[in-house]
Amino acid sequence: MFDNFQIPENLIPSDPRFGSGPSLVPEEFLMSLHRTGMHYMGTSHRKPAIKNVVKEIQEGLMKYFNVPSDYLVVLGNGGATLLFDMIGLGIVEKKISHFTCGEFSEKWYKSSKLIPWIEAEQVSVPFGKGINGKMMPGSDVIAVTLNETSTGVQLSKLPDVDANTILAVDATSGGGQCPCDVSKTDIYFFSPQKVFASDGGLWVAIMSPKALERAKKIAADKSRYVPDIMNWNNAITNSEANQTYNTPALATLFMMNEQIKLMNSLGYEEVQRQAKKKADLLYGWAESKPYLSPYIEEKEFRSIAVATIDVDPKVNVDDVIKFLEKKKIVYGIDGYRKLGRNQFRISMFHNITYNNLEKLTGLLSKMIESKL
Ligand SMILES: Cc1ncc(COP(=O)(O)O)c(C=O)c1O
Repeated sequence: MFDNFQIPENLIPSDPRFGSGPSLVPEEFLMSLHRTGMHYMGTSHRKPAIKNVVKEIQEGLMKYFNVPSDYLVVLGNGGATLLFDMIGLGIVEKKISHFTCGEFSEKWYKSSKLIPWIEAEQVSVPFGKGINGKMMPGSDVIAVTLNETSTGVQLSKLPDVDANTILAVDATSGGGQCPCDVSKTDIYFFSPQKVFASDGGLWVAIMSPKALERAKKIAADKSRYVPDIMNWNNAITNSEANQTYNTPALATLFMMNEQIKLMNSLGYEEVQRQAKKKADLLYGWAESKPYLSPYIEEKEFRSIAVATIDVDPKVNVDDVIKFLEKKKIVYGIDGYRKLGRNQFRISMFHNITYNNLEKLTGLLSKMIESKL
């Protein structure tokens, strides 16, 4: 469909990666990793070379999110998906309430639902709408999703919970960028292949003293069988020693640490300000063109990490995406596959620059307008 389309040179982004995860890893991080030569990759995660990186990650995140010193940054292998199960198995006493608005928040609810000895309740809104969550009678864990990656919806306010209730926030794709006072949460968890510009496979959970106490209490209950890999005690005691229970991917740790250092050099406020500016650009573009519209109508729920933009059905987005991928100019702007909409989903993660988003929007406009 676009075979004869001439791509204007000035609209070619300097980096083609606009995907919502795995996301853009700066080439400098790969070069820094390369420079560690024979002294990092291929060495033991129980020795200082790696433990020091884990320690820097933990301290760097505490500083970035400005959480009290009695919080603990806990890490393990398996990605955020494993935490869906670990929270149900090892944090919920009797009942968890899930506030769902898309594919990932539903997936988390479904994981809890499968555990026979807890009750899982779902409070949902249709895909494309936002939901903030609240205390629910009888629930000892409230589960919310900071940024629903499938639809591009972010929380507009954290729910308040009482002293006996754990607030668990899946911050996988918004963590570090979408507004959230982490000191008001009990488990704020994410995988590093999104805003934290690393590779997948690891999970990170920033835990309050309340959550640590709950985790240890349930781990001590021998009537509940929990596999060792999902046992919170194993994860916590290893994290206290700057380690993971089993062998982590060392490159993932290295690159995440580089990104935390970079983000700490700016501070959380500034990272959010930059993200907001990029979001204004994308939603402003979508509102200004008659053939585009922001998928999320409720402005307060529009994500500043992942923008979803519907396109006039006269132009099939798949043709645009295929053409740009083939030319190696733009990767990863497909809508979430199961939503099945004629939609672009464009990430605004920290390393994706304003300048490149400007070029991308200009390029997409030109391509679409050439067909209308
Ligand atoms: C909101 C959200 N939660 C959880 C996950 C699962 O993360 P992982 O694939 O690292 O397990 C994702 C992945 O995209 C996500 O976007």
